[in-house]
Amino acid sequence: LELKMNIEEIEKGGYDHFMLKEIYEQPRAILDTYRGRLRTEQNLIKMDGIDQHLDRFLNANRIIIVACGTSWHAGLVAEYIFEDLARIPVEVEYASEFRYRNPVITDKDVLIAISQSGETADTLAAIKLAKENGAFVFGVCNVVGSSIARETDAGAYTHAGPEIGVASTKAFTTQITVLTLIALKLAKEKGTFSEERFQEYLAEMETIPEKVEKALESNPLIEIISEVYKDSTNALYLGRGYNFPVALEGALKLKEISYIHAEGYPAAEMKHGPIALIDEQMPVFVIATKLGHYEKVVSNIQEIKSRKGKIIAIVTEGDEQVTELADHVVEVPETFENLSPLLTTIPLQLLSYHIAVMRGCNVDQPRNLAKSVTVE
Ligand code: G6P
Repeated sequence: LELKMNIEEIEKGGYDHFMLKEIYEQPRAILDTYRGRLRTEQNLIKMDGIDQHLDRFLNANRIIIVACGTSWHAGLVAEYIFEDLARIPVEVEYASEFRYRNPVITDKDVLIAISQSGETADTLAAIKLAKENGAFVFGVCNVVGSSIARETDAGAYTHAGPEIGVASTKAFTTQITVLTLIALKLAKEKGTFSEERFQEYLAEMETIPEKVEKALESNPLIEIISEVYKDSTNALYLGRGYNFPVALEGALKLKEISYIHAEGYPAAEMKHGPIALIDEQMPVFVIATKLGHYEKVVSNIQEIKSRKGKIIAIVTEGDEQVTELADHVVEVPETFENLSPLLTTIPLQLLSYHIAVMRGCNVDQPRNLAKSVTVE
């Protein structure tokens, strides 16, 4: 037992938990994921799984994305970026719903299955169903040689390295990285994007690891904020556009490891229900970056403030307007709007981590949860 514990300590590389180690590995994991694929000098993105089946993608009527949990949130981010850049219609579905609802699938569809483990039973079943109906099936997995990687027609691995903590962190940001590369590549091939714009994206993508590093520097501030809200019984997470899925993911992280009831919402939907919950006890985490419906989010924040909710905002460096309104702000570096989830998600991961630790929860192995759900 002692030996096992020592090995685990070594594997944690000096961090108290795998989750924290994995959060801090993200600059590296993102770099490893685009390395070799993103080729700035040639102004191209090289991905064999796409190159070999380019026709299927370019002639697709639509892309259907299936996944579960955090991977489903990465799928939602992908929906925004595929439609925005490559102008291909996208549907994102929980694999468990898709497989049982008699979906319309044709050979003009491309199905993308996203899975860290590559073993999630519902996602695997969704793949089988899509294949039976003639769709082209593409996998985005982290675990090499996993069942989903084997069952799909083609795919692209995330290069996050082993993820041990049950709460997914680096798998999420590397999934978004792979999906962004695919969207950019298809946009270029389809011509929905100019060469110059494409070039700007490649250059910006290459700044992301450094910017994630910068976002991680907010850790001490997040510890202070966590101390203030650790005894909350509820929390709301709000975001719009690309950062709506980040709000969902932030809420999921808090639920999973700290057992605080949390809900993520598109900020504008707040007035259709969640606003009724807001009082001086309620922390509301709002993603309010400069390039992302900023003015709209500011007015959402004003609505929360007038109901005495506590506002913790994730803002762009140098922000003034939200900073004046919020109780706490955490800054992230500026980037393109569609790359912002890679940064805004970082403080929310750290926040759930610290709150869980302060509440004495088992961060790496939360109760009732499994790293990989291989049964229905
Ligand atoms: C479980 C894990 C989550 C994960 C989900 C999907 O619920 O606890 O962290 O997001 O399964 O797993 P997958 O391996 O398919 O991405």
